[in-house]
This record gives sequence, C-alpha cells and structure tokens, in this order.
Amino acid sequence: MGDRAGTAVETAVIAEDLTVREKIALLVGADFWSTSGVTREGVEIVEPLQLADGPHGVRKQPTEGDHLGIGNAIPATCFPPAVTLGSTWDRGMARRVGAALGAEAAARDVDVLLGPGVNIKRSPLGGRNFEYFSEDPVLAGDLAAEVIAGIQEQGVAASLKHFAVNNQETDRMRISADVDERALREVYLEAFRRAIEGGRPWTVMSSYNKVNGEFVAESRALLTDVLRGEWGFDGAVVSDWGGVSDRTASLKAGLDLQMPGPAIAGREDLERALESGEIDELDLDASVRRILALTERTRRSDVATVPDDDAHHRLARDAAERGMVLLRNDPVDDGPVLPLDPSATGVLIVGELARSPRLQGSGSSQVVPTRRESPLDELRARFDEEVAFEPGYSLEDHDDALADAACAAATRATTVVLFLGLPENAESEGYDRPHLDLPAAQVELAQRLLANHSRVVIVLQNGAPVVLSSWADTAPAIVEMWLAGQAGGSAITRVLTGDANPSGRLAETIPLRLEDTSAFATFPGEAGHVRHGEGVFVGYRHHDLIDGPVGFPFGHGLSYTAFEYGNVAVRDAGEKFRVTATITNTGDRFGAEVVQLYVGVPDGDVRRAPRELKAFARVELDSGESANVEFALERRDFAYWDVRGGKWKVDGGRVSVWLGSSSRDLRSHTVLDVEPDVDTAALDQWASLSEALRHPVVGPRLRDGVSTGAYFPMSEDLERMAGDMPLRLIADFEGMLFDRAQLAGLLDRQA
Ligand code: BGC
Repeated sequence: MGDRAGTAVETAVIAEDLTVREKIALLVGADFWSTSGVTREGVEIVEPLQLADGPHGVRKQPTEGDHLGIGNAIPATCFPPAVTLGSTWDRGMARRVGAALGAEAAARDVDVLLGPGVNIKRSPLGGRNFEYFSEDPVLAGDLAAEVIAGIQEQGVAASLKHFAVNNQETDRMRISADVDERALREVYLEAFRRAIEGGRPWTVMSSYNKVNGEFVAESRALLTDVLRGEWGFDGAVVSDWGGVSDRTASLKAGLDLQMPGPAIAGREDLERALESGEIDELDLDASVRRILALTERTRRSDVATVPDDDAHHRLARDAAERGMVLLRNDPVDDGPVLPLDPSATGVLIVGELARSPRLQGSGSSQVVPTRRESPLDELRARFDEEVAFEPGYSLEDHDDALADAACAAATRATTVVLFLGLPENAESEGYDRPHLDLPAAQVELAQRLLANHSRVVIVLQNGAPVVLSSWADTAPAIVEMWLAGQAGGSAITRVLTGDANPSGRLAETIPLRLEDTSAFATFPGEAGHVRHGEGVFVGYRHHDLIDGPVGFPFGHGLSYTAFEYGNVAVRDAGEKFRVTATITNTGDRFGAEVVQLYVGVPDGDVRRAPRELKAFARVELDSGESANVEFALERRDFAYWDVRGGKWKVDGGRVSVWLGSSSRDLRSHTVLDVEPDVDTAALDQWASLSEALRHPVVGPRLRDGVSTGAYFPMSEDLERMAGDMPLRLIADFEGMLFDRAQLAGLLDRQA
C-alpha cells in the first residue's frame, strides 16, 4: 500500500486545490468496489479507496466484481455471522474478531470494510437477521462498537450499516419504515448511537429505505442533524450500493460517497445542480474533505503483515463456540444428556446438515472460506469409538427413504445427535422468510426419532429463530448452533462433548409462535409502508409487556455448571449509579456466566417496557470461584424519548434494577428512588391541567391562585376528573378555575 497524502492541513489545501470535476469524481465511485482518487499528469494526488464486504469476513472480489456474483471472492476467514457473535455477549471476543477482520482486510489492500450491521431484529422473519446482532439496541450497539474498534485498530475503516431502520428485506429499496419518534430514538437509532459513540466508525452506510416517507439517503435530519450534530460522527457517509436516486439531494443531506461507480447519472446530477446554482462548490467541499480525511485515516504506511490463517481459524472456532446456546438439557435416567462422553459407544449422528453444514447466510456478506469444517468429521475425530451417520433428509427434496433409514439406525443407537436447520435459500439478503418453520421433512423425522428414542440431542443450524413448540417438547437437549462460520464443526463438537462449557445467550427471543411476535400484524407492510405499530415494544419488551409465553426468552442460555447471584447493591450518586453483585460458580467445572442488568421504570407520562437491558458482563469462573461484577448506570439509562420536548427525559419514581440470567430469569433485585427531571419547558394554553400542576413554576401558582373561592374549588377529585382538560378549555368554562385573562397571566410568567 503506497503512502497517501498526509496531514489535516494538507487535506484542506488539497481540497481547495482540486477542480470541480475532480471533486465530483471523489464523491461517486469509480467502479463496483473503488473510488476514483485524483490523478494529474500521471501523478496520483489522491489515492483511490478500495471497499469490500462484509460483516463476518472479507469478500474481496478479484477483479471488478458484479454485485451478486458473490461466489468469486478471494478466500478469507469466514467468522461466525453476527447472529452468532451477538449470542456471545462477549465484548472482548467482538473486539478480537474485529481486529482479525481488519488485519485480513489490510492484507488484501481493502481500505473500507462494509460492516458491522446493527439493524434491530424487529421480526424474526427478517431475511437478513443473521447479519445483525440482536433485537436489543444495547447489546447490538455495544458489540458493534467493539467490532468497529477492532477493525480500525488495523488502519481499515469500518462501515456501520445500514443506517437506519432497515429491518426487513421486502421492498427494502423504497419502502417507508413509518416509526414514531420514541421508538426511533429508543430502539432503532439507539443501536447506532451506541456503536458510533463507543466505536467511532470512520464511515457509516446509509440504508436504501425511507424513514417516515423520506429516503434516508436524502434525509438531512438523519445524516447530518442526528448523526453528526448530536452524536459527533466525524466520518464519511457512504451510500448502500445503488441507494442514491437523487445525488444532489443526497449531497445536501450529508451523503458523501455514492457507490457503486461509475454512477454517471450521479455525476451529471451534480454538474447540473452546480450549473443551475442549486448547489455551489462549497457544498461539495464538506464532503470532499471528509473523503480526503477517510483516505488519510486509512493510510497504512507499513506493508500489512500476512494474517495467520490458522490463528484466525482458531479465533473463528472460539467465537462460534461462545455463541452457541444450550437451550435445554434435561435429565434422562441418571442425569442430563449433555455433555456427551467421547468414549461412549453407539452414538448416531443424523442430519444432512452435520455433513454439509451452512456456515453463513446468503447475499452480499457471503465469504469464500479458507477452510470448511463439518460437524460430522469433527465429532468422528473426537470420539474414541465409531460414530454412525445417517443423512435423514435431503436439503433439496423430500426423501422418505432417508428418514426410514435414520429411524432404523436409531434403534441400535445409545444416543442420537440430530442436526436440523434451514436450507440455504430459506434466509437471505433480498427477501424475508414467510414463516418460522423448519422444513416439514425435518420436523417429521424429529418427531419419529423422539417418539422412539429417549436420548435425542437436537442441534439447530439457522440464522434466525425457528419455532420448536410442540414437536420439540419431548427433546431432552437442544443446542442452537446458529450459522457458525468455517470452524463451526469443531466448535459444536467441543460444546457437545463438554470440551467447551456453553456460554452463549440468546440475543433474540425464540417465540412459541410467529403470531406471538410484536410485528406480526404489520410486517412486512403494504403499499410502500411498513408501520412500526408496536412502537418501542420490540422483542422481549413486547413479550414481557404482555407477559406472554415464549419458547426461550431473550438472554437465555444454559451451562454445564451453575451460578449463584449474590444480592445486588447500588451506590447512588444522583447522576451516576454503581451496581455490584457477587457471582459464584457453584458447579463442578469452569464456566462463563453472562450477567444481564435490566432496569424497570414505572410508567410515568409514557408506557414503559417492564424491563430494558442496560448493561451486561461475561464472567469466567472456575468451579467454586466468585467474582464481583460491577456496572455503571447513568440517569440516561432511566430515560425515555420525550417526543414533545424532543429530548431524553426521566420521569423518575421507584426504579427496579435486576441482575439476571435472562429477561425472565431474574436473580437479584433492588429498587432505587430516582428523582424526576424538572421540566421547565414553557406551557402553552393547550397544556392539560395535570401538566400545569406538575410544572415547577406554574403548578404552585395555579394551586395558590385558584384553590379558594372558585366555582369549582381545586380538589383531588377535580384534579383527577379534569386532569386531562386543556387549560384553554377550562378557561372557557365560565366559573371554573380561571378565565382567559387569568390564564394569560399564569402563562406569562413561567420562568
Ligand atoms: C447491501 C450491503 C452491501 C452492499 C455491497 C448491498 O446490497 O445491502 O450490505 O455492503 O450491497 O455488496
């Protein structure tokens, strides 16, 4: 990698020195994966940037690649996709994977790696959910921040995507995600805010969709006011591929680089706008400077070291193993079915997916792996005795003979390990899933095996939840291995045999039925709009609000050991809170617990979710060992987005703080008295009586002024009955608390 033009001062000088034509060339891609740079008389003044997908591996195409000709990329480590990395709840692991991605990108001369993706899993039907971390913004945002920091440590820019509210594939290039301001701030933008403030990405990718009727790529409110103004993002905004229809509008909104190139229409658009005076050269300069700054940031003077493929393969295995979730492990006869004893005889593996595993989801994130392990080979290598195998089903068509053969073999087996999962085309970028079911042939096979065998371990391979209700009720053990990347075979082997103690936790609820999910009625929308009618009640916030049954709750995951939670203590310093508790490994082996901190704020002016995740920590403990976990909370963690004030607001009251092992397995609880924010916002005549009574200045004066002698004296009953009446209408009720002139007086002096 050659040296690029240097300092910030030089960047400014260069920006001023460039011709309009050169500036425009910097703001639209040159080809599918690179920008133009600037060359004058054979001398490169600004070096072009090289971009590549994607979130869980480097997909660098050898020559100018086509968009969906996804198969032809230079091999790179296929790390577990975000669904699995998200289930690790492990910041350190996310950082290490990020650093490995950055190192592989640098070694391939990639300057901008297009990931991570932090969109919220609004519905489990989202076709691309495997590329995203969670249904919760704290978990998604915090893990993404680590991945970003890891990538950028290597001098490669991360591109946080897809900003914003791109929660579905159906009609993704034009649909309007209609979402109220509170849900937007508390759920959908919150994941981005945390990732940006925590990871400081050098680029953000704008999404294809509209938000509340406006293309994100043309939204100054999102790309400039919120992203840069409020959150301090100081990098460049890159469009999603083909996600710009009006280059001038997008430039004005703050979108710096249109991809892919050559984008002739985009260039012409800018030229026309300059000619007509719709924009002037200064409008180009802000974006040009940001592209030059990106070039500078990704300047790597040393020749990148060639990454160690073996080490990265091992890292991919460690990440996969930590992301796998032991959903159930019930005793049969003398104890839990798992872990399996590698010296056992008569183990039968069933399921084509054990032999031909899915490593990742389909679409632009698809990496060509450097190696490819299968669970079958790895399990066979680990067991002392022969391990039998039956495919049981075909991933292409229905074949009853395969199921019959598997059931016959099971009669001779001591334990059956049954691999089930979604076929390749069931989940992909570009379309959503129509349902949450596994293929019927797999469910039938599972039912037959479960009916005739007491020791059946189910292993699931899928990038988003499948419903397990009814048919899997009798399965004594279930492991969700997700899509585990190129080293998933050894990772699942280690988890099943206890070489690794499972520590993954669900980053999304596994519902009992699709009908129970919060977006059921409105996903994926109609007539160009998808109404986020559930508001902030996404994922577990919804399930916990209605206290409805779930298959497995958010945060759930078992271990081969057990953990005890000591009492939670909170040190309250008004603005900051320190939460501590002691966690003890009470079982007989080393293991890791993911301690989850949930906050429950009583309904004040708005309806709140019963619990919201605010912090988490993964603690590794030897048998018998204890450790103190400590979390920091701020008042902001109790706030909601006040749509009228356009700001975060704390209503206060008796706030619950829980430490738990899932959103439904709360182990330790305490209550805090939190002071409400004093709301000094000026009231107008349409404020309600109760709002006026709560106002720090108007309230006391209202009470003093009208409590005696009025036709309706102020009383508790009146406050309750007329609490929602606007002041203006009260004034018009003759003889009620005040008249219009008195109201004007009251509202005049609010400071
Ligand atoms: C996807 C992006 C991806 C880009 C380049 C788009 O269709 O939405 O996530 O980075 O293509 O492949």
